[in-house]
Amino acid sequence: MDAQQVIRRCRELAECTDEPGHITRTFLSPAMRSAHAKVTPWMEAAGLQVTTDAVGNLRGVRGSGPRLMIGSHLDTVPRAGAFDGILGVMIGIELAANSSAPIEVVGFSEEEGVRFATPFIGSRALVGDPVNTTGVLDAIRDFGLDPAWIPRAVIAPEVREYLEFHIEQGPVLESLDLPLAVVEAVAGQSRYEVQFIGKANHAGTTPMNLRHDALTGAAEWIGVVEREGATVGWIAVEPGATNVIPGIARAGLDVRQAGDDERKRKSESILNAAAEIAARRGLVVEWQQKLDQPAVALQTEGLERAVAAAGFPVHRMVSGAGHDAMIVACRVPASLLFLRSPGGVSHHPDETVLEEDVAAALRVGEEFLRT
Ligand code: GLV
Ligand code: MN
Ligand code: MN
Repeated sequence: MDAQQVIRRCRELAECTDEPGHITRTFLSPAMRSAHAKVTPWMEAAGLQVTTDAVGNLRGVRGSGPRLMIGSHLDTVPRAGAFDGILGVMIGIELAANSSAPIEVVGFSEEEGVRFATPFIGSRALVGDPVNTTGVLDAIRDFGLDPAWIPRAVIAPEVREYLEFHIEQGPVLESLDLPLAVVEAVAGQSRYEVQFIGKANHAGTTPMNLRHDALTGAAEWIGVVEREGATVGWIAVEPGATNVIPGIARAGLDVRQAGDDERKRKSESILNAAAEIAARRGLVVEWQQKLDQPAVALQTEGLERAVAAAGFPVHRMVSGAGHDAMIVACRVPASLLFLRSPGGVSHHPDETVLEEDVAAALRVGEEFLRT
């Protein structure tokens, strides 16, 4: 099997971008269409019959009877690296090309939650829990797909198991000098859009004690979010001019925790802080939950056997990042193999992977397919 080809293809897909000079490829964007045009012949050359389902997942299938599904996502965060998600799809194609077993390889259309602030649009359709917001349905139509067919995207009864390969996106494997890890669980995630509403006014004439500045309220709150160990990943200010006091500040909040009760407690505490800060500053605060994804336990036995049979040390870990495997797991047994992330860097253009680790993952995949 050709680890170099896997890496080369990831780098080639990086050319499909919505933002020239960077890697940015969101749900059903023009860049995703070019990515499909590149991946389709690679899947076909691996002996797969390729279709695009109604939420834009690219699906390559071979054979009848019980089959393994290998998948990950083809979308990216803004200004991403070349390997998050994409690597898992390219490894799946390489494994399919070197096996005659019935198999399905899926390139999910959306995992990151960038375009509609809702992640897992691709994998949720496979488990019969599609995202049906107007924006998403319009994007599906604009891409030339028909939302009426979304129910047909559900995983076929022949799929016996799901396997995902993904970069670790953190520093743990590198610090242990290990190439691979079997993921035993994925932490839960809550995401919210939080909006502070004040009053826009003139920056030169409004005394400080008479202002209702939405942004300074949000800034105070973001300090609380940091102390709670959560993240505000974006903020947008309106009307957005240097000489206008911000009237509205909207922010994206991301809360992760291995324990679901602790995640709920932390989210509540952060939102209560937003309400307290807003009241004290004469602002209004509103929020909308965009994701409430519980932590998920994954299958480990088969993958551990495959790692050992391929001659690598077996190491288990928990993932703080979300993955399509955590969605698919409610429908079929799902396993997830991490590959070391050099420098522990991800969601950044410096994200990379070692050729020897890709070769190791391919060996493990070969063993897994044998069982
Ligand atoms: C996926 O990249 C996540 O946000 O965990
Ligand atoms: Mn990601
Ligand atoms: Mn990913």
